Amino acid sequence: MSPSSPTDDPREGPVLVVDFGAQYAQLIARRVREAHVYSEIVSHTASAADLAARRPAGIILSGGPKSVNETPAPSIDPAVYDLGVPILGICYGAQLLTQQLGGLVDRTGRGEYGRTPLTVTAASPLFQDWPGAAEVWMSHGDAITEVPAGFVATATSPDAPVAALHDPDRGIFGVQFHPEVVHTEHGRELLERFLYDICHCPPSWTHTSIIESQVAAVRAQVGSSPVLCALSGGVDSAVAAALVHKAIGEQLTCVYVDTGLMRANESEQVEDTFRRQFHVDLVHVKAADRFFEALAGVTDPEAKRKIIGELFIRIFEEVARDLVVEKGRLDEGPDDEPAGYLVQGTLYPDVIESGSGTAATIKSHHNVGGLPEDLAFDLVEPLRLLFKDEVRAVGEELGLPHEIVWRQPFPGPGLAVRIVGEVTPERASILRAADAIVVEEVRKAGLYRELWQSFAVLPAVRTVGVMGDGRTYAYPVVIRAVTSDDAMTADWARLPYDLLERLSSRIINEVEGVNRVALDITSKPPGTIEWE
Ligand code: XMP
Repeated sequence: MSPSSPTDDPREGPVLVVDFGAQYAQLIARRVREAHVYSEIVSHTASAADLAARRPAGIILSGGPKSVNETPAPSIDPAVYDLGVPILGICYGAQLLTQQLGGLVDRTGRGEYGRTPLTVTAASPLFQDWPGAAEVWMSHGDAITEVPAGFVATATSPDAPVAALHDPDRGIFGVQFHPEVVHTEHGRELLERFLYDICHCPPSWTHTSIIESQVAAVRAQVGSSPVLCALSGGVDSAVAAALVHKAIGEQLTCVYVDTGLMRANESEQVEDTFRRQFHVDLVHVKAADRFFEALAGVTDPEAKRKIIGELFIRIFEEVARDLVVEKGRLDEGPDDEPAGYLVQGTLYPDVIESGSGTAATIKSHHNVGGLPEDLAFDLVEPLRLLFKDEVRAVGEELGLPHEIVWRQPFPGPGLAVRIVGEVTPERASILRAADAIVVEEVRKAGLYRELWQSFAVLPAVRTVGVMGDGRTYAYPVVIRAVTSDDAMTADWARLPYDLLERLSSRIINEVEGVNRVALDITSKPPGTIEWE
């Protein structure tokens, strides 16, 4: 499936957000989509002809970590200004277009960082909804000191003589501040004016339209071939499966491998949702014994991951082979035709990070550790254009239960990387029971969505305690709760004392084999989120 826009009408082409580095573009692209306009991120190395070929309704030049006065600094093909497509430069983007079109960007020595008062000095279609002054978010060292020919300055701030500028004839705009950031008052309105009034984009990118276009794309891609989907219990595979099922119904078979390392009720919930609610053809492989057997005596974290990943693939392969044979496609048809299709929950950030705009391979940390090599599957990736928040919204619209749609991330190897030392059925059930209490109490405290992850860890030591009349010698359980935006960095969550008290007393009273509860107060870095 091509990631291009759904129609041929030039005004319904995407708004292209040109990336100058450091993920500034992602937030802008999300804000554009929140205004119901489809947007995509493109590299600044794309030529003007490449951009024009996408028939963009508008182009936004994003911020970036560099200064336009550095060499080398990322630039853009100047022919882009002659395409007749409206352009909005933000921060670095505004400085770049100023410099490329003949204005001046100076190192004034007085940058602005954070909340800054802005004064509108001349009428601009972008400032229609603004009062004369507003607080905006700035982050710049250099400043635009002279506008290019044909431009007028439309706003100023204490240390940005030109905080906004435009060329009304060519429809080129620049703002030194960040309208995409929530701290900028009226930032959303400014983007909407650009999208609706300047680019004439209809606000038609909605969750319903996403579902409709993906349903059509999946049907067109797979024809009448069988399609397989590995469900993990996580949100991405669940939404991908529900979407594909809406598109092709019985052609889809979902495979859920219960490794014995899932969270409490996860298997029941997957069964209940997909088999009973959606009537999906679901193969539930109960493979806990095989996983525990393979993990016996293994304590090294990476060895555990490898064993689990490989066994998962082997089991998936067995099931896949049987199913494809059953559905009569294996070894049929011309050699270059796939035996079937495999659904993967790749998201847009993965596509962007892969750089090529095509995420060809399954990430090594994904639940399905790799494709069985001798089974010729093609990938179906119905979420590859979506950000995580859009995936959740689509999931809700498709009728998936809240618990699945809003579930916190869970590692592919499951509880195994939260059981330090050997993974045994007994230790897995201790951890599962403790973890269920953590999840339940965190939910009751209203903190589940706020926290990136919150779970229990089972260390490999035992400690002495006293319960009733007797001495105990049992495991401690560690509570790990973190806040994060992307799991790259994380901070330990300051959980309320009364919640900690409930967790401690419930876990010790209700989970046999545990006599102590500790709290992990390590951020990432230097710690990781998981203990292994
Ligand atoms: P760490 O522990 O590296 O985790 O701070 C970052 C994020 O990745 C998840 N994680 C994994 N996910 N397979 C996965 O699918 C894995 O082996 C794995 N290890 C860590 C972790 O839960 C967190 O969200």
